[in-house]
Amino acid sequence: MRTQVGIIGAGPAGLLLSQLLASQGIDSVVLEVRDRDYVEHRVRAGVLEHGTVQTLREAGVADRLDAEGLVHEGLNIRFGARTHRLDLHDLTGRGVTVYGQQEVVKDLIAARLTAGGDVRFGAADVTVHDIGGPRPRITFVQDGHPDEVRCDFVVGADGFHGICRGLIAGRTEFERSYPYAWLGILARTPPSCPEVIYARHPNGFALHSMRSPQVTRLYLQVAPDEDLAAWPDDRVWAELQVRLGDDEGFTLSEGPVLDKNITPMRSFVATPMQRERLFLVGDAAHIVPPTGAKGMNLAVADVRLLAHALGGHYAAGRADLLAGYTEAASRRVWRATHFSWWMTSMLHKSPEGDLFDDRLAETQLDWVASSRSMATALAENYTGLPYEQGWSYR
Ligand code: APR
Ligand code: PHB
Repeated sequence: MRTQVGIIGAGPAGLLLSQLLASQGIDSVVLEVRDRDYVEHRVRAGVLEHGTVQTLREAGVADRLDAEGLVHEGLNIRFGARTHRLDLHDLTGRGVTVYGQQEVVKDLIAARLTAGGDVRFGAADVTVHDIGGPRPRITFVQDGHPDEVRCDFVVGADGFHGICRGLIAGRTEFERSYPYAWLGILARTPPSCPEVIYARHPNGFALHSMRSPQVTRLYLQVAPDEDLAAWPDDRVWAELQVRLGDDEGFTLSEGPVLDKNITPMRSFVATPMQRERLFLVGDAAHIVPPTGAKGMNLAVADVRLLAHALGGHYAAGRADLLAGYTEAASRRVWRATHFSWWMTSMLHKSPEGDLFDDRLAETQLDWVASSRSMATALAENYTGLPYEQGWSYR
């Protein structure tokens, strides 16, 4: 099999890249180890930056997102049993759209397959060869049969546990682990507030979010090695009631739990994001903790840059855009890494009972809630910095 770009991984990054390449007339094949059903039902975060929504529109995959996505013009920060609303629209002129990541994945898969795109699920033993030569190859096994893709470029969109990052010899890795994880549930009950609530409570962090007018998404800070079995539904609800409670009459509505999972918290950046004819996008190159929901937005920003650089290569023989990919991507990667670390450290309770850390976090939250410039800084990052270099809104 021959294609121009061989893409490993059918998460949001790999699928969107394939879609953006197709819109420029560039062929690709996407190889995914899991089956379609698994990929389409993996529950993850669900807040899309303004620019992510625009990108999905440009890619022609936003019809359902535009019809069903919930546009939020504000968010709530709750601590000391009081709620402070940040008016994102007033602070930045932008909002965010709440739409489940797996819905984005479903829309992308449908769009690729409808357009005759080549997405192979169940591709085992994916192995990359010859990235230093002019014709790299990817070998894999599907339905027990060995197969091969010959391509001009290989893109590692294979997530944090993928194989591609390991091929970038001499890379530098930056890492921070956090002493907590998130226990997340999806519940069939209407959201208890029309907007997202980030709550800091003496028992730990809690988050109220949603997926639709009938489905609520909720999270609790738990220990990093927490056992899901120790959290039957009634314990989860009881703890959510305590941590999300306030002195202003908030009531959290409960309902059947549709999904329950634990998300580890990690910050990770690998650089460079390229070597010869191999390029990394999304979680393959960097992970942020989920506080602030930057993961998929950052993957989309990488993919925009790489799609543009590959377009420049094929349409105009430009080598500079591909050569400069890591440098172009890394400024946003580090901004999102800092923002996610900042939100995480400000909203979580120190599990070791470190009074100094807790006091710093509380006073930082108080500053965000009381200073327009701090609120604006948060809101600019949350709704998404512009893609252009310079990042200036004005
Ligand atoms: N061969 C083929 N596919 C692989 C391999 C492999 N060896 N290893 C991993 N994959 C697949 C995974 O099964 C997964 O479907 O690569 C895909 C990577 O997708 P994500 O983990 O979703 O990563 P990415 O597309 O970069 O997503 C970025 O979206 O999924 C979230 O948490 C993620 O928020 C982050 C963002
Ligand atoms: C979610 O809806 O899953 C979500 C919302 C906000 C976050 C993280 C996750 O910061």
